[in-house]
Amino acid sequence: MIGPAQSRSQPKADVNRQLRKHHTTRYYVRHVKDSLTTRISKLICGIFLIILLTVGIIIFILWLSLRPHRPRFHVRDFSVPGLDQANGFENAQVIFNLTARNANQKIGFYYDAMQVTLNYKDINIGKTYLLFPFYQEPKNTTVLYGVLSGATLTVNNQRWTEFQSDRRGGVVVFRLQVTSTIRFKVFKWISKRHKMHANCEVGVGPDGSILVTYRDKRCPVYFT
Ligand SMILES: *[C@@H]1O[C@H](CO)[C@@H](O)[C@H](O)[C@H]1NC(C)=O
Ligand SMILES: *[C@@H]1O[C@H](CO)[C@@H](O)[C@H](O)[C@H]1NC(C)=O
Repeated sequence: MIGPAQSRSQPKADVNRQLRKHHTTRYYVRHVKDSLTTRISKLICGIFLIILLTVGIIIFILWLSLRPHRPRFHVRDFSVPGLDQANGFENAQVIFNLTARNANQKIGFYYDAMQVTLNYKDINIGKTYLLFPFYQEPKNTTVLYGVLSGATLTVNNQRWTEFQSDRRGGVVVFRLQVTSTIRFKVFKWISKRHKMHANCEVGVGPDGSILVTYRDKRCPVYFT
């Protein structure tokens, strides 16, 4: 019983071994093919990642060196001389001193002429134009100084009376608005014009000079 079974199993094992050998060759071929594809896709992935990383670093460096800041406006001084005089409206004056700063490292500002308006209780009472169009270099501050009086200031007796009643309360609040159009210069590139507004609230005391709480205050700046 064992004999024939053994003799029969002998060639079967041979066939099996041959089959296995055949299988292994095919397996290796496929394995080599697979690993080649894997290596190529790994390479492509690697190159892609390197490109991505490089672009990322460049953008980061550009952003660090540009880091855009909007223009900074501060009220340095503001006064209404003669506010304590009863008939002061006859030769009323409003003196302002603002600073506009470009805090950027690399970005320049092209300003068109600036319009400065003075409001009291949301009523426009004064308007003037400052400076001819000018270019502001990075890290530069420009003083915006002006006097509103006569034709540029419309204060009548009634308005002056309102000032006097506010004065008795300790503070007369005004709003100075600076409006201009601005273009940004980055390297050689110049942006289109954007309308810019700086909105400065400022209060004077009974003597007509700026109150400490309003001095050197930063004005909100927005674009439209
Ligand atoms: C306006 O304010 C700036 C900053 O405080 C000052 O340097 C400048 O002298 C002032 N200008 C006038 C005309 O008062
Ligand atoms: C700001 O710019 C003006 C005009 O270009 C220049 O005269 C002035 O020296 C500059 N100021 C600073 C601090 O760079």
